[in-house]
Amino acid sequence: MASASHPKVIIYTTPTCPDCWALKAWLKREEIAFEERDLSDPKIMAEAKSRTGVRVAPITLVGEKVFYGTFLSQKPGLTAALGLSNNTGARAMTKNVNIRQAGRTITVPEGVTILEAALADGISYPHDSRSGRCGSCKSRLVSGEVDLLDHSRFALSDEEKAQGLILACRAIPTTNAIVAWLGGDEETPSHPRRRLNCRVTAIADATHDIKHIQLVIDRADPLAADPLAFTAGQYARLTFPGAPTRDYSMASGPGERAFEFHIRRVPGGAATQRIHALLKLGDPVLLEGPFGSSYLREQHAGPILCVAGGSGLAPIKGIVEAAIARDMKQPIHVYFGARSDCDLYFVNHSEGLAQRHPNLTFTPVISDATWGARWRTGFVTDAVAKELQDFDGWKTYVAGPPPMVEAAMQICTASGLRSGDLHADVFFSPGEASARR
Ligand SMILES: Cc1cc2nc3c(=O)[nH]c(=O)nc-3n(C[C@H](O)[C@H](O)[C@H](O)COP(=O)(O)OP(=O)(O)OC[C@H]3O[C@@H](n4cnc5c(N)ncnc54)[C@H](O)[C@@H]3O)c2cc1C
Ligand code: FES
Repeated sequence: MASASHPKVIIYTTPTCPDCWALKAWLKREEIAFEERDLSDPKIMAEAKSRTGVRVAPITLVGEKVFYGTFLSQKPGLTAALGLSNNTGARAMTKNVNIRQAGRTITVPEGVTILEAALADGISYPHDSRSGRCGSCKSRLVSGEVDLLDHSRFALSDEEKAQGLILACRAIPTTNAIVAWLGGDEETPSHPRRRLNCRVTAIADATHDIKHIQLVIDRADPLAADPLAFTAGQYARLTFPGAPTRDYSMASGPGERAFEFHIRRVPGGAATQRIHALLKLGDPVLLEGPFGSSYLREQHAGPILCVAGGSGLAPIKGIVEAAIARDMKQPIHVYFGARSDCDLYFVNHSEGLAQRHPNLTFTPVISDATWGARWRTGFVTDAVAKELQDFDGWKTYVAGPPPMVEAAMQICTASGLRSGDLHADVFFSPGEASARR
C-alpha cells in the first residue's frame, strides 16, 4: 500500500512494451496514482528526452528522481522512492504461474497476461504478434484457469481450446497455474536481447511506398565490435528519430555487417510517415532485439513454403537467403503477393537466386492485374492453393498484413499442414492491439 504522501509519479510508456504493462499493473495494484505519457507522440518523446536524458520506455519519474530500464530493474528503486513496503499486502492479487520450459514460477500481476509477465521477467517465451493473431505463443494449460481475451480462430481454434490449449498473449490467469508452450522439441534460438545505437547507412525506394533501409551499429556504441546474434526471420524493435517505436523484420541474415529493413508507408501512420518523409543518412536509430519465433528451422529437411505480402518480403528474404547459405537442399517455394506491378520489388534479385538454385522457385502474384501484365494474377493465397495441395511434413513461413496471413494459415492447415509447422509474422499495429484489450 502507498505512503499517503509520495511525490508525483509520471511514467513514459509505449503501447507495445511489456515492461510498461507490467509497471502500470504494479502501480495500480499498489494504488499509486500516476500520470501516463505516451512516447508514441514525438512531442512527448522530445519532452522525455529533455527531462530525463532517456528515450526508451518505460521511464518513471517520482518527483525529480528518474528510473528507467526493465520493470524488474526499476522495481526496488521505485519501492523505496514511493515508501512502499517490500512485503506488499497486494501480493494476494497476483497469481503464480509456473512456466515448464523455463523451469521457473513467475508472479503475474492482476490484469496482466502470462506472456507480458514472462517477457518482463526476462523469459524468452515464444511470441510474435502479441495480439492473438499468429499462434506463436500457443501453450498448454497444464493446470489452473485463465480468462482468454479475444483472438483469431486461426491462432487458436475452438477444438484446440477444448483440448486445453491457450494463447499466452491473451491469457490472464485467474488462479495459480502451470503452462507449457508448444514446440518445445524444436530448435529454440536463445540469443541475448540487446539495445544497440545504430546509424542509417543507406535509404532507397524499393517501391512507391516501401523503403529499403540499412543500419549499422554506431562506432561510438560500446558494443560496436560485437555483432548481434539472431536467427534469420526474427525482428527488431526500432526507434527512428522523433517516431514511436515499431517492430520491423530483419531482411538481412545473421553475420552481415548491415541490418536491412523494408518499411512500407502506412497512410496516417505515426512512425512510417516520418520515416518516409524525414529519415536521412547518418540519423541515429535505436535497435532492440532480436525478437520473434517465426525464424528459419535449420534442422527441418522437408519442403518449405514461404508466402509474403508487400513488405512481408523482408523476413522471407532473410529466411530464404539463410536457407541457401546453409545449403538446405529441399524444395523451397516462395510466393510474393502484391497489389500491382509497381508494388513488386526485389524481383530480379529473387529470380536470379532461383536460377542459380534449382530447389528454389519464386512466384510473384498480383491481385490488381492490368492488361498484358507478365505476372500471375489473383490473390497470392489462391495461387498457393491451386498449385500445392499436400503440406504434410512441410514448414510454412508467412509474413505480411493480417488478412493475407489468416488466409494462408487457413489454406495450409486445411491441406494437412501441422499447426506447429506454421510460422507467421503478422504485421500488426500496436494501436490496433491496444484497442482490442
Ligand atoms: C512482428 C512484426 C514485424 C513487422 N515487420 C514489418 C516490416 O518488416 N515492414 C513493415 O513495413 N512493417 C512491419 N511491421 C508493421 C510495423 O511494426 C508497424 O505496425 C507499421 O509500420 C505501421 O506503423 P505506423 O506507426 O506508421 O502506423 P500506426 O500509427 O501504428 O497505425 C496507423 C493506422 O494504420 C493502420 N495500420 C498499421 N499498420 C498497418 C498495415 N500494415 N496495413 C494497413 N494498415 C495498417 C493502423 O491500424 C492505424 O489505423 C511489423 C509488425 C510486427 C508486429
Ligand atoms: S503472440 Fe500470441 S497469438 Fe501471436
